[in-house]
Amino acid sequence: MTKTPVTVTVTGAAGQIGYALLFRIASGQLLGPDTPVKINMLEIPPALKAAEGTAMELNDCAFPLLDSINITDDANKGFDGANVALLVGARPRTKGMERADLLKANGGIFGPQGKAINDHAADDIRVLVVGNPANTNALIASAAAPDVPASRFTAMMRLDHNRAISQLAEKLNVPVADIKKMLVWGNHSADQYPDVSYATVAGKPAADMVDSAWLEEYFVPTVAKRGAAIIEARGASSAASAANAAIDHVYNWVNGTPENDWVTAGVASDGSYGVPEGLIYGFPCTSKGAEWEIVQGLELSEATKAGIQKNIEALESERDAVRELGLL
Ligand code: NAD
Ligand code: LMR
Repeated sequence: MTKTPVTVTVTGAAGQIGYALLFRIASGQLLGPDTPVKINMLEIPPALKAAEGTAMELNDCAFPLLDSINITDDANKGFDGANVALLVGARPRTKGMERADLLKANGGIFGPQGKAINDHAADDIRVLVVGNPANTNALIASAAAPDVPASRFTAMMRLDHNRAISQLAEKLNVPVADIKKMLVWGNHSADQYPDVSYATVAGKPAADMVDSAWLEEYFVPTVAKRGAAIIEARGASSAASAANAAIDHVYNWVNGTPENDWVTAGVASDGSYGVPEGLIYGFPCTSKGAEWEIVQGLELSEATKAGIQKNIEALESERDAVRELGLL
């Protein structure tokens, strides 16, 4: 093994997404087949024993790329030297919990973790926030890390992107590999705006193959509410598909996106498409292996403009709520 190991920190490592994620990281699917990894598992004290069990199983896989595993409940140690951080651990919404309570509880997690990243992570740290509300949690973590460029804090919109591809492929009875330039604008919430305006199917415009009634009445709500449908069906929120999307997001960030395609990533807005600067927002993005770049110059239909605006309002309202709580 010639390459230096890359340190990957996973928070909520003993949870269900963590369990679906860690084995894929250790096998090389996150960073590539030539990159050894050191895995830091960050958990809260009651879950440390379960994390140890997962670590035992990771070791039992004898993954050639797995250099070491560290388990801790101390964020300063968990992010020490981290090159990639997957912030999965979050406080779930429980019965009767108001949105402000959820934002406050998560602010108490993502603020300190952002500070620990600021103080201890490697200079090239790249952060993906999976824990909900992912976009606003990423904003909180980024605000607590003033020495880390905001471009390094991202939120997971890739599951929404993959869900949108899957729904379109099923409708048209085509392989998912034929679909390019799918896009989900905005927030990882039911407000999100899945948009086929630029999508192609085997090189031809997808918008010519579906009617607006299907798009408005089936496609958009099905993709946007898929998380709730999975919870209803499984009795638990999506885990393997969420872990898969996290792998896809980081793999493309680090190794680049395919030619003539883009992916959806939740990144800090630079003002593109009228999205206020700083909001962590789902945009069409490419990477050449360093930074996410927002695809520029897309013409927006009236429906897309309305979808973008709805998500601006939703994310501004979350941002204002966490500001009022003193978390930003
Ligand atoms: P889970 O309850 O199975 O696991 C969460 C884990 O996080 C638990 O082991 C818990 O002990 C740990 N945790 C809690 N607070 C922590 C802290 N301060 N530091 C470290 N670890 C902590 O949940 P899950 O199914 O793995 O889901 C995790 C999060 O991902 C949830 O917020 C869920 O809503 C979200 N999610 C996001 C997407 C997305 O597309 N962005 C998709 C699916 C799920
Ligand atoms: C998902 O999209 O599957 C999750 O974000 C749902 C949830 O609320 O955990």
